[in-house]
Amino acid sequence: MSGAAVTCDGSRAMATEPPFNQLCCAKVRLSRTCHERKSATLPFMCGIVGYVGSRPALQIVLDGLRRLEYRGYDSAGVAVVDDNVILTEKRAGKLANLEKALGERAGDGIASGSTAIGHTRWATHGGPTDRNAHPHLSADGRVAVIHNGIIENFGRLRAELEATGVEFISDTDTECAAHLLAAEVRALREAGSELAGPQLLAEGMRRTVNRLEGAFTLLATDVAVPGAVVAARRNSPLVVGRGEGENFLASDVSAFIEHTREAIELGQDQIVLITPGAIEITDFAGADATGKEFHIDWDASAAEKGGYDYFMLKEIAEQPQAIADTLLGRLSERGEIVLDEVRLTDQDLRDVDKVFIIACGTAYHAGMVAKYAIEHWNRIPCEVELASEFRYRDPVLDRSTLVIAISQSGETMDTLMALRHAKEQKARVLAICNTNGSTIPRESDAVLYTHGGPEIAVASTKAFLTQLVACYLIGLHLAQIRGVMYADEVAAVVDRLRRTPDDLRDLLGQMEDVRALARDLRTASTVLFIGRHVGFPVALEGALKLKELAYMHAEGFAAGELKHGPIALIDEGTPVVCVVPSPAGRGVLRDKVVSNIQEVRARGARTIVIAEEGDNAVASYADHLISVPRTPTLLAPLMTTVPLQILACEIAAARGHDVDQPRNLAKSVTVE
Ligand code: AGP
Repeated sequence: MSGAAVTCDGSRAMATEPPFNQLCCAKVRLSRTCHERKSATLPFMCGIVGYVGSRPALQIVLDGLRRLEYRGYDSAGVAVVDDNVILTEKRAGKLANLEKALGERAGDGIASGSTAIGHTRWATHGGPTDRNAHPHLSADGRVAVIHNGIIENFGRLRAELEATGVEFISDTDTECAAHLLAAEVRALREAGSELAGPQLLAEGMRRTVNRLEGAFTLLATDVAVPGAVVAARRNSPLVVGRGEGENFLASDVSAFIEHTREAIELGQDQIVLITPGAIEITDFAGADATGKEFHIDWDASAAEKGGYDYFMLKEIAEQPQAIADTLLGRLSERGEIVLDEVRLTDQDLRDVDKVFIIACGTAYHAGMVAKYAIEHWNRIPCEVELASEFRYRDPVLDRSTLVIAISQSGETMDTLMALRHAKEQKARVLAICNTNGSTIPRESDAVLYTHGGPEIAVASTKAFLTQLVACYLIGLHLAQIRGVMYADEVAAVVDRLRRTPDDLRDLLGQMEDVRALARDLRTASTVLFIGRHVGFPVALEGALKLKELAYMHAEGFAAGELKHGPIALIDEGTPVVCVVPSPAGRGVLRDKVVSNIQEVRARGARTIVIAEEGDNAVASYADHLISVPRTPTLLAPLMTTVPLQILACEIAAARGHDVDQPRNLAKSVTVE
């Protein structure tokens, strides 16, 4: 069967009570002449969707891409198979550019074909252009491919293909996969393979991926095989959605949840072939394989803005529920903390003599809070490390080390590589993750999922609070198994945690002053954040939010460190956000922070003070006072972080920035 293809531009060819320690203390740009891997323009962190069925595929794929746009938004493209033609459209920039281009096309079948693949891209280097956007077509126009990951040996493959006369159109590694797949399918046909149709395409994909090195999810369509999409995955996410007479593929279930809530998580090195009536999974050697079936227990509305201006505001508002959901069912009838997947024995946990927490960004800040809780409750050392630094300093790990990897996405490459290093050193790994079936939990010995639901905004909010809750639960679980806390002590903390959603709802209802303050601060050139103890990571998190959303200079400091240098930054009117510990907790801690507030005020700072309700004495040191519900010291970040999230979001909006998709960032950072 022969068919034509259509080019990118549309032409034919496509977490007053006693102090907390009393409450619970016990104890690539690729040039044609330079095929170096390091210099390649490569597509990372992309969003991928595929559909086969009887409905027009284009709109289904575009809707899916809209939900995946958080993964990358440098360019987007689609390929639709219709009547022996592959029709493609791809555009640099956000999805809206692609939709506009599609709107200008008419009558060529792109809106009516019932087999399609679509892609949103986030590039690390090189200009995101129409030409480098996906899909990429094979030289003969028969095959269209989209890709997330890195084909590490693409230089060699490209040279090999060029030697056979293949002309490359783009600077990407992905194009190699398109040419290879077409060549493998052609070679099979010419060799008189007994395989035909979808099976032939799947075999072509198998032969192709066996030539690839690196990390990839690949989806492909073939002009001669309408009604089939073949995909392969290695070290890159891919889930299958099982429909009625239609099936879906995507990087993340949010892409197809409005159509089906039955999903299959693919294993490592698997190929899946979807047709309207079947899902066939095999491994890279061609043997039958199975994925892990699961039911998605959240619905499509969870992936929509729900009336808020930004996903971030919606996700901030969802935090009380996200905490409640993360706590749901965590205390067994025997009063024990329940994790989700545990491939560790109680003895393994009793043997733990040191804890390392590895994470990046906001998740790292959650880890910093966890250190205080784990050491306080367990009396064992706990270190927190940036995942990107961990393995390079050769940390001392052994079988009695517990490494806790925290990641919202479960795909962060820095965290994954640190986890793998820990496993090589025989350490036990426990994951805290929000994404069911993602790589980090899959490669860990135990998992506690945060039930936060999808977090779409690039800036992490509900993921952070649910990570805190998960860290508290793990600290309590360890303490209980190690025999340093009694069940009733654990239950008392969990009970206190269960009250935080209501407290948080109250707090969220009183944020109007914070919004007004944000508008006032929008022209500040620098905002500083200070805190002590668990207030220090909160200060860091507040500064991170402001940097990533408002593109403002913001720094978080341990309040005690101010006098060792940073206080020189304070000028007349410099806004300083001060996170004040509870006076009901460690009074000395709170008094020290109050002294630090006085120090910055004496030098002209404008103080924005976050303090516990009832701490009236602090008011006289505050130019702006933000009161938060009374909370035990260790749990206080569950409250004190929230005004900082809103502050950053509102300042960014007042400055006219894209709150959900800040520049230069992507939700899931799958590169080191
Ligand atoms: C913070 O708002 C960012 N989104 C970022 O720091 C994020 O927390 C970090 O990249 C880690 O992501 P992960 O939780 O998915 O591993």
